[in-house]
Amino acid sequence: MRAGASAPNKPAPQTDARLGRIVRLLSDHATVVVSGTKVAAEIGSSRSEVWRLVQQLRELGVDIAGHPATGYSLTSMPDLLLPDILAPLLQGTIFGKSIHHYYKTGSTNNLAMEAASAGAPQGSVFLAEQQTAGRGRGANQWHSVRSAGIYGSVVLRPALAPSDVLILALAAGLAVHAAVKEIDSRLAPDLKWPNDVLIEGKKVCGILAEMNAEVTSVRYVVIGIGVNVNQASFPADLQSSATSLRLATGSEWSRVELCAALLKSLDREYRGLLEEPDAHNSILRRFQERSSTVRGAQVHVEENGGFEGVTEGLDARGFLQVRTPQGVRTVLSGTVRPR
Ligand code: BTN
Repeated sequence: MRAGASAPNKPAPQTDARLGRIVRLLSDHATVVVSGTKVAAEIGSSRSEVWRLVQQLRELGVDIAGHPATGYSLTSMPDLLLPDILAPLLQGTIFGKSIHHYYKTGSTNNLAMEAASAGAPQGSVFLAEQQTAGRGRGANQWHSVRSAGIYGSVVLRPALAPSDVLILALAAGLAVHAAVKEIDSRLAPDLKWPNDVLIEGKKVCGILAEMNAEVTSVRYVVIGIGVNVNQASFPADLQSSATSLRLATGSEWSRVELCAALLKSLDREYRGLLEEPDAHNSILRRFQERSSTVRGAQVHVEENGGFEGVTEGLDARGFLQVRTPQGVRTVLSGTVRPR
């Protein structure tokens, strides 16, 4: 997640939609063997093409038994973030209609920003099994190994002034916090301003909110979310600062379940923000309740050459206030490190 400038984003093909349709068909008939002829008819391809696609699914880690002569069956439910698997779970949200999946890409934030600039609708979701140039805040990289985490970005088109967009980033942190708690209520995630989610002081989720705006109005916002889900270990330089939900709980998590819970939770926060007069204040209040460092913590802020002080909560727009010997300072974007 830390260090170094990111490599350029190489264009990569979107995952063949027929892969998702095969997985959906086999999971809808989970107890039986489905003939190659039936699979071919359902996805409108030849049996030999089905065989080729089944091989691709196996490379993605999907356990499929069988071959063209015997037919196919799923040995276990795959945990891939495929549109055909996620869309039914996201019905009724803004995120269920336009889900794009990539086996490997540079950065889902780059994909979402490019798509938004070309007119992608609000609610478009870009998910990757692996990122080769995952970006963090500042010039950091985001460690994005294959199928261990959730690497996703969503396109929003809120009627907000650019100066009010921070509240969306805070809401995204709250959404991840709620999704994690929904799946395992024993966990005690902590929010670190502006939107890191920590467990026992180590980062389990980072959020990169980017926007394209005129001076007075936002064209689009992309919220990129990286969650460390099933990583069994981290590179040496991240071991002291990063953890995964698997490391925190001792068992594997379903990325599909968490991703759906997270997007549903983000949908609730976002709709609330657009529709409910008190939502803005509610986000500020809940963020402060769920963060151990936003008030009364001794911190070092990496901004304007760095300064130290004690946190004093959030201002009306969501910026962190820090009391220093020279008075209260507003943190605009710098990394905040508890001392
Ligand atoms: C941070 O804490 O520094 C933010 C990390 C954000 C990582 C996510 S992973 C999905 C999306 N694509 C990116 O390139 N970055 C975000």
